[in-house]
Amino acid sequence: MTRYAVPFLLTTALALPAVTPTLAMAQGDLREAALEAFNPLPSTIPAVADNPSTEEKVELGKMLYYDPRLSASGVFSCYSCHNLATGGDDNLETSIGHGWQKGPRNAPTVLNSVLNEAQFWDGRAADLAAQAKGPIQAGVEMANTPDNVVATLNSMPDYVERFNTSFEEGVSFDNMAKAIEVFEATLLTPAPFDAWLNGDNSAMTETQLAGLGLFMDKGCASCHSGVNVGGHGYYPFGLIEKPGGDVLPEGDKGRFAVTATADDEYVFRASPLRNISITAPYFHSGKVWDLNVAVQIMAESQLGESLTDTEVTQIVAFLDSLTGTLPTQTVPVLPEETKSTPRPTAEVLPVQ
Ligand code: HEC
Ligand code: HEC
Repeated sequence: MTRYAVPFLLTTALALPAVTPTLAMAQGDLREAALEAFNPLPSTIPAVADNPSTEEKVELGKMLYYDPRLSASGVFSCYSCHNLATGGDDNLETSIGHGWQKGPRNAPTVLNSVLNEAQFWDGRAADLAAQAKGPIQAGVEMANTPDNVVATLNSMPDYVERFNTSFEEGVSFDNMAKAIEVFEATLLTPAPFDAWLNGDNSAMTETQLAGLGLFMDKGCASCHSGVNVGGHGYYPFGLIEKPGGDVLPEGDKGRFAVTATADDEYVFRASPLRNISITAPYFHSGKVWDLNVAVQIMAESQLGESLTDTEVTQIVAFLDSLTGTLPTQTVPVLPEETKSTPRPTAEVLPVQ
């Protein structure tokens, strides 16, 4: 029973012959502890502040999410970097955007992002509506202007009608962001871990449960907790031991850029870990492709611990239980351009 050599609640109970009732009891204890640290995903779509959801608004938000005409080049949509078929991110080290420029950070997943306390690696956007306005204007992402977005939307009667149905004030840059926000709020991915938290003893394997025990026992859950197993709270990356410049490049000082407080140098939001197995590469730098390596780096840098290979395997097995199922998506058909639709720049910038 070496795989239970985990100094956690489980140990005593599981040292007994693994008859089902005993296992169920041990799972009960583990579940009770887990429910102190984590919450299962809500069973209904969470409401977002000052932005009531309707079916029409969600559909409009989905269209905008897929529409590359929100970018100056006509090439990039939210979907380009947050591909729902590949875990809600782009699986690149750092994103490629307008004119084929490389951005400074790795793209986090949009899945379950509505449940994060704040958005971005440094938490600089309070919610998804504030967030959505960023990439559209960012020079390295979609490089557009609010005026040009509004002109684009107003040029297509189908969009105008849909905005009028969903919002009193019709087309506006703010309403575009609000529609995207309610669409993103639907992107919840219930996982085996949720089924297990909700009482299904067969939802997780023994290795995954051992990994969960370690995740709590070693202290990972002191930062990665709550419904998104992270997504709230800010900590120095390198709390105990700063990782090398290959993983933590010096140029990006994280929350320091938001608060201008010296204590916030190299401070980042504890990452939400749902779907982490399918969203490599890891960290804001995107420098680590192997989840086992990422877990080992975390143990050393945040906890000053060196994990055994078995421990890493178990924790990674637990992280696999956070991979969930996206609600079935249909690809939206977007409105046709008209004569007055601003033309895409299709700009290609010289390689620097
Ligand atoms: C060129 C690639 C690119 C495009 C296009 C893009 N994003 Fe992002 N997105 C990123 C990157 C990179 C980050 C992280 C930036 C940071 O933290 O500084 C990010 C962060 C986010 C986050 C925060 C998630 C979290 O866990 O904090 C959300 C939500 C998001 N983007 C949604 C969108 C939406 C909606 C659009 C379209 C309006 C969009 N993105 C367009 C690359 C992109
Ligand atoms: C003191 C707080 C803290 C502790 C403890 C901690 N983490 Fe983290 N974790 C963070 C922060 C902050 C980040 C974001 C790092 C960055 O900027 O790239 C992170 C990032 C991660 C990532 C990469 C996420 C991504 O999207 O790329 C993984 C995986 C991870 N942590 C797993 C763990 C595991 C497993 C443990 C326990 C061995 C652990 N963490 C312990 C704060 C913590």
